[in-house]
Amino acid sequence: MKRLPLVFLLAAPLFMHAGQPTLTIDATQPAGAVSPRLYGLMTEEINFSYDGGLYGELIRNRAFLDQADSPQQWAPIQENGASVSLALDKAQPLNEQIPVSLRIDVKQVASGKRAGFANGGYWGIPVKPNTPYRASFFAKSAADFSGEVTLSIEREDGHITFATGKVSGLTNTWKRYEVLLTTADVAPTSKARFALTFNQPGTAWFSFVSLFPPTWNDRPNGLRKDLMQLLVDLKPKFLRFPGGNYLEGNTIAERFQWKKTLGPISQRPGHPCPWGYRSSDGMGLLEFLQWSEDMGAEPVLAVYAGYSLGGESVKAGPDLAPFVQDALEEIEYVTGDATTTKWGAQRAKDGHPAPFPLHYVEIGNEDNFDKGNTYDARFTQLFDAIKSKYPALKCISTVAARDPEIQRVHSRQPDVIDEHFYDTVEAFYQKATTQYENYDRKGPEIFVGEWAAYETPFKPWDKRSAGEPPTPNLRAALGDAAFMTDMERNSDVVVMQCYAPLFVNVNPGGRQWRPNLIGYDALNSFVSPSYHAIKIFSTHVGDQILKVTPADTPLFVSATRVSATGEIYLKLVNPKPSAEPITINLKGSPQVAATATVVAMSAASTEATNASGTPTAVGPQTTTITGVSSGFVFSVPGNGIVVLVLKPE
Ligand code: AHR
Repeated sequence: MKRLPLVFLLAAPLFMHAGQPTLTIDATQPAGAVSPRLYGLMTEEINFSYDGGLYGELIRNRAFLDQADSPQQWAPIQENGASVSLALDKAQPLNEQIPVSLRIDVKQVASGKRAGFANGGYWGIPVKPNTPYRASFFAKSAADFSGEVTLSIEREDGHITFATGKVSGLTNTWKRYEVLLTTADVAPTSKARFALTFNQPGTAWFSFVSLFPPTWNDRPNGLRKDLMQLLVDLKPKFLRFPGGNYLEGNTIAERFQWKKTLGPISQRPGHPCPWGYRSSDGMGLLEFLQWSEDMGAEPVLAVYAGYSLGGESVKAGPDLAPFVQDALEEIEYVTGDATTTKWGAQRAKDGHPAPFPLHYVEIGNEDNFDKGNTYDARFTQLFDAIKSKYPALKCISTVAARDPEIQRVHSRQPDVIDEHFYDTVEAFYQKATTQYENYDRKGPEIFVGEWAAYETPFKPWDKRSAGEPPTPNLRAALGDAAFMTDMERNSDVVVMQCYAPLFVNVNPGGRQWRPNLIGYDALNSFVSPSYHAIKIFSTHVGDQILKVTPADTPLFVSATRVSATGEIYLKLVNPKPSAEPITINLKGSPQVAATATVVAMSAASTEATNASGTPTAVGPQTTTITGVSSGFVFSVPGNGIVVLVLKPE
């Protein structure tokens, strides 16, 4: 899509546009303090966000637990007349947690040829040039096998090998083998698979077959680098995890059980996630915490509160007590001293002696769906236990202020209320001037823990949205940006907010929801206009709210100032296709520099968007303008999201 010419962005002397709509920024004194944690991230296992997404593991169904009766995602390699059978074998489990293995019987293989099995990863194995991949597996063999196992990253038809290595000496007991496979100067492709092949007949058992590319900060159980870079670039101040519905599970048994996600990954069985596939739990509690730390963000920990998505709930009182204890122990794992607390010591043993910072704990997720209206009692029990052990922690209620009275918490005053908004662009424009303007400042703080504007006729969970692009276009981004001006103007009460969902694997079958912020396949990633809108906002935010009074303008606005430097960030969102010239008056500000920086994203059509093949069609441009003063005219581009950076002279 064509971007608007930059001439629209030029500031002009005031007299040229007398009678313009005006914006008056009151810089005499701040109208409030911007929350230091306003911009953050929310994630969960949805749309193959972790497995097949951020989590570096390239092998799908590495523990052979995805399907009870067959080794899903694994296929035999039987070239040149070879004969191979693959079967799940419960009689040869790897350990108590992984109660199954893959049995391979190579019945026939010609001399100098190969036979074996392969995995196609999450819609392909990403092959990049000159790249080391860490392949590993557990294996043991029957007495009839004494040959070599060749590990290969190869083209999906097996005819081209991109990287290869060998293992020999399998014995009759389980042992872990690891090989580094390094590609040469090959062309990038995801039309590849990971193969394990034998050079002679025999029987062997495999478990936990794994392949990792280089990861962020080189962590062995680490995260995909391109996606991490995109997140770090947003400068998030917090990470809300582990969900979302993913925290609750469809049933109590399928909730996120943090204790089962600790320790060696080869002892994590994974669990069914509520989005229709099995989670490997490679992203366990410690990985979430380290992920936050790696982004310079603080964890916002959601603890299971006795309600699951399918409708099961735990009665408050003795029935809930073990869950309350579990939540307390989870908090101790995050924050406890490594030498004096049991779970702090466990965290140290797992590799992170230093406690993590924690200020907010969310009690459950969307408990307004609990038809039994039991949240008040469950919240109270958890709240009291948390406050008594950790008085400084703020507890978040998941029932919104607008939810029916009967669902809300009455017995205690929640510190924070988590509100979720998935709504049309038009509804977001409405919210942009009304949602939090008149919110009772004596009430609980607000956490907008999930929000996204959608621009198609379908609600995000509507199966018909499967035909729409997985990420939103500029029209949705305009709605998102407009709503962000409201949250920012009111960030004395809106202490945190985060878009959801964050990720989508764009392959067919990879998605359960739209819109999503960041799209990817095995090899490449791209960001939506909404991502850019968030980045423009989150990387230009001061610590003081300045009151802006708009007059006769369709623009949505917000202004903040950095108290240390006096720099003012004026955010302007123009939902109209035509440019909007406005007079900007700065009241009470010291002299402003004549030159200002403009970061702007706009396009002639709101249909403009980014996609796999066209990842950079829409994005911000940074320019400078001159002629800035305490009263100047600025033309906001049509369909535009703009930050004006005004510097003191
Ligand atoms: O973001 C997708 C889902 O929307 C979340 O899991 C849930 O909390 C909400 O309903």
